[in-house]
Amino acid sequence: MRAIEVTEYGDADALSVVDREAPSPGEGAVRITVEAAGINFADVQMRRGHYPGGPEPPFVPGMEAAGTVAETGEGVDLPEGQRVVAMTTGDSYAEEVVAPADSLFPIPEGMSFAEAAGFPVQFLTAHNSLFGWDGLEEGERVLVHAAAGGVGTAAVQLAAHEGTEVFGTASTAEKLDLAERLGVDHPINYTEEDFGERVDEITDGAGVDLVLDGVGGNVFDDSLDALAHFGRLVTIGVASGDPPAAPATKLLMENKRVIGFHLGNAVRHDPGRVLGAVPELTELLTEGDLEVVVGETFDLDGAAEAHAHLEGRGSVGKVVLEP
Ligand SMILES: NC(=O)c1ccc[n+]([C@@H]2O[C@H](COP(=O)([O-])OP(=O)(O)OC[C@H]3O[C@@H](n4cnc5c(N)ncnc54)[C@H](OP(=O)(O)O)[C@@H]3O)[C@@H](O)[C@H]2O)c1
Repeated sequence: MRAIEVTEYGDADALSVVDREAPSPGEGAVRITVEAAGINFADVQMRRGHYPGGPEPPFVPGMEAAGTVAETGEGVDLPEGQRVVAMTTGDSYAEEVVAPADSLFPIPEGMSFAEAAGFPVQFLTAHNSLFGWDGLEEGERVLVHAAAGGVGTAAVQLAAHEGTEVFGTASTAEKLDLAERLGVDHPINYTEEDFGERVDEITDGAGVDLVLDGVGGNVFDDSLDALAHFGRLVTIGVASGDPPAAPATKLLMENKRVIGFHLGNAVRHDPGRVLGAVPELTELLTEGDLEVVVGETFDLDGAAEAHAHLEGRGSVGKVVLEP
């Protein structure tokens, strides 16, 4: 089978197409013929060698794949050909991947493979970050950074669906148009105006109740200032490459909370709680109340281009590989 391998840590050119033996499923696992694999910012950080605890080269990246069941291991009763999407612990940028049967969800009728591949990581991260711990409630104010990105487009829709007042930042007018269509009430182009000042202006100094931050660096620091009293900041990533430090004294004096969320580790520690939202999310997607925004698709040969697109801030919604 063809797969994409990171042969050594580096820039997008470190991704190359290789021939590998197709994997076979062990007990409790399934081999999937991959039709679409989601690309996540974490894949970029793993390729660079910057992901804490990430894999060492050579490795095949990719943590979610949609396709059809090709072969089942012992103890798995699933029909060949069934359309499924899986969260994997790697190896999804390939024509075939093996995944544990308990990590699979059936793909609802009407949902494309590309949309399905864009569902698990971004929607489960967004949902658990907003509602899983110390959850967002109707009428509250939420600020979503990178609002037109993969997790951002999911978070904006979920927050708007809950009846919250949504603030969203992005770097271009096109991205903000998309964010607004998905439910952002207050689009903020952070390249043209200071998002903290804008939040202050719009809320008359009250601030927002929750910030979803996957950027880090100064964005994290300024987001703490933009929080209301008793507000919480959910940190999910460091796209800026600059990991922030939480200022304990400020947090205690201002009654603010910083909460971390990591999907993979949360699933390992409390799968029922983290995956509990899947039926509701699937129903909302099927009924058209939510959408998986697939920005761009690339074939396997275009993997390096796809990574460069994502890390160069060129992408909107989900970037998907179609082997
Ligand atoms: N904790 C978890 O379980 C989990 C799960 C999924 C994702 N994440 C994290 O969530 C964040 C978003 O992930 P995603 O896959 O959905 O990516 P994405 O939002 O589609 O893409 C990243 C976006 O971040 C913004 N950005 C700001 N500073 C950047 C910089 N220096 N370099 C590149 N981009 C920058 C850009 O949007 P603008 O152009 O609008 O600034 C860019 O489009 C990442 O930090 C990722 O690691 C965490």
